[in-house]
Parts: sequence; structure tokens; C-alpha cells
Amino acid sequence: MGDRVILGQVLALEGDPARLGVDSARHWTHGGVLVRDGIIAGIGDGSQIRAQAPGIQATDHGAGLILPGFIDAHVHYPQTGMIASWGKRLIDWLNTYTFPEEARFGDAAYAADIAELYLDLALSHGTTSMASYATVHPSSVDAFFTAAQARGMRALAGKICMDRNAPDTLRDTAQSAYDDSQALIGRWHNVDRLNYVITPRFSPTSTEAQLEALGALWAEHPSCLMQTHLSEQPDEIAWVKDLFPDARDYLDTYERHGLLGANGLYGHAIHLEPREIDRLAEIGAAVVHCPTSNTFIGSGLFDMDLSDRMRVGLATDTGGGSSFSMLHTMAAAYEIAQLRGRALHPAELVWRATGGSAEALGLDHKIGRLAPGIEADLVVLDLASTPAIAQRANRANDIWEALFPTIMIGDDRAIAQTYIAGMPVKPA
Ligand code: GUN
Ligand code: ZN
Repeated sequence: MGDRVILGQVLALEGDPARLGVDSARHWTHGGVLVRDGIIAGIGDGSQIRAQAPGIQATDHGAGLILPGFIDAHVHYPQTGMIASWGKRLIDWLNTYTFPEEARFGDAAYAADIAELYLDLALSHGTTSMASYATVHPSSVDAFFTAAQARGMRALAGKICMDRNAPDTLRDTAQSAYDDSQALIGRWHNVDRLNYVITPRFSPTSTEAQLEALGALWAEHPSCLMQTHLSEQPDEIAWVKDLFPDARDYLDTYERHGLLGANGLYGHAIHLEPREIDRLAEIGAAVVHCPTSNTFIGSGLFDMDLSDRMRVGLATDTGGGSSFSMLHTMAAAYEIAQLRGRALHPAELVWRATGGSAEALGLDHKIGRLAPGIEADLVVLDLASTPAIAQRANRANDIWEALFPTIMIGDDRAIAQTYIAGMPVKPA
């Protein structure tokens, strides 16, 4: 099971190219990846890899580029059906489109259908792992993990907790959020390749009592990640100030309730105050850049220089984000950085979507790189997937120039294959 030689171009990044230099990347035009028991056992020159594993089935992708599978560090799988909903900013968007859709997940059969649909879309876009928000309903977590487990994926998710400022059908309580989250941890955390994430939606939809209860739960289960939203839009930040008049800033609404820690994953983090940046850095927390969401809902321009001080993951934030594609997400990250005066190298973009997100999720020892001992979740890119991309890639002088048009213009047509633990899984 999962023993295979996969041949093609291979591009391996050992760490953040912004720190190590782009020259730290290794590229083989005729390379190979050896997989044993679903784990990478070797990478390098294709003929040498093949010679190491006589008799093992080989799949040759020719000029296809083998990368680690993409890792989406912040997504809402229940928002699959309402992606690309027009004309609202965050709070209106939640009330108009998001909450009515999430209310449908009280029906376990609907949740199962959308979980299957979402995961197939993710795999067909080359995304092999993700940290997803479910809805307030515990059964929406069961639906997601059941579908991810059946696909053999490394996946993370948690039940959203919210006990105010949401419709009746979407509200839990401080106690039920604690109890239900704890039961889900018992059922799913560290089962196969699944990890539970404690998930207060954001401080406007939780009372202080609920934040306190979830802080206590996290202290009891420190190996769980905790994911939430932070400083996405100015209106939201003003609302947080009204709701928490004693808090020093938005981050403090979490910090004072035990919801700031190194295993914390703070989505968006756009309009941060200096104290918030210092605290996130000091505590070793991770933030998640959601570029297509930040342009689509009109939230603002994330500062990639934060990656000098803290771990930064990359994410679609579907369906606030306007795409399931981490290629589109890299393109949007590139454009946002350009608007802030920084040109992200293709190596940095790939790193953010793979090893960078893995670091943000605290899973860089398991996923996100092509290296022996890392789980063999891979994507193979066709670098000439459309005529527009092919004509540009044809002029390329090196692998970066060959890859960048696919990052900027590519979509699921560029995904030649997706591997989970060494097995090809791209849906037909
Ligand atoms: N803030 C609170 N909930 C959400 C959500 O579902 N999407 C986004 N983008 N921001 C949020
Ligand atoms: Zn979100």
C-alpha cells in the first residue's frame, strides 16, 4: 500500500526561501520521489530513485512538476455552496449569506453531501490538507472527518462555537460548546490522520463566558490547535471594541480568556496594532493570510513582512475567499504584496502554500515538504495546462519562470495528479 516511484520534475524547498535564499531550493528536471508505506523514502535524480526501488510501480509524469500537496490553513467547508456571493462586506455577508447556509447543516445528510463535495473539490485543486471550520452542529464535524478519513487525508477541523449575535438555530451556549467540543476531541483528535481544532468563530459571536470555557478546554487539551478570526475589517474591530470595552485590543479579547497560545491560529490578522503583533510574536502564535477573501470581502492588505516575526500560513478562506484553488490564492498573495511594495518570489509563494502552512499548523514534521520521513501527499502540476500558460512557459529560462505563469493564471486544469499517502486520488 502506497509504495510507488513517482517521476517528473521535482522541486524541493527545505524552509522559507525568504530566509534561506531561493538558491536553497533543489530542482531536478528528471527527478523522482520514492514512497514506501505512504511516507517519502527518497527524492532526487529519477534514474537513481528508480534504481533504489527495483520492482516498485513507477508513474512517470514527464515534465509535470512534483510538489508537496497544497495546505489550506483556513477554510470553511460549509461555505462551499455559497462561494462567490455578491456585494457584501463581512458582517452583512455573514448575516445575509453565511448564517442561512450554515443553518442547513443541522441536517446531517446535507452536511455529509457538502463535506464529500468540498473534499473532492479540494483534491481536484491539489489541496491535500486543510484546517476547516465546521458549523455550530457537532454532526457537521462528524461529516467532515468521516469524509476526510475515507480519503486517507491529514485534515483538521472543529465545531464553530457561538452563543450570541447569531440566529437562534446557530447558537450554542458556553457549557454546550465546551461539552460538545470535548466530546468531538474524544471522538476524532489524533484518530488516523485527523486533528481536532478548538474553534470559537470570533469574539463578536462568543460571550465572555464562552471564551472562558473554551480557554479552559484548550488548557485541558494543549495538543489541539485553536483557530479563530482576528482583525479582518475595520467595522468588525469597532464592534469588538464596543462589545469588550475593557479589552486592550482585539487580540486581548482572546488573551484574557486563555485563547492566546503557540498553538493558536489567527485568521486574517490584517489591521493589527503594534501590541498585538508583539504579543503574537512573543507567544509564538501563527497567523493565516487569506488573500482572495481579503480582496473579495474588501478587508484589506495583509502585511507579509509579519513572516519575519511569526509563522504565516496561506489559505483560501472559502467561501469568503473566492476560490478553492491554492494557485489562485498564491496569485492573490502576490498581487497584495505588490500593492504593498514587495514582490514575492515564486519560491516564497510555493513555500507559503506548502511548508509555510504546515508550520502554521504545527505539522511541518509530517507534511508540507519533499523530504524523507514526510507523508507522501503530493501535487503534480502541468506547467502548460492552457494555451495561454503554455505559450508563456515555453519562453522560460528557468524553473521559476516556467512555474510562475501557472501560479498566476493556473487553476484545477493545471493539477495533473494529486497523491494522498502515495496513492493517486484526483477525482475524475
Ligand atoms: N469572521 C467570522 N466568521 C467569518 C467567516 O465565516 N468568514 C470570514 N471571512 N470571516 C469571518
Ligand atoms: Zn474564516
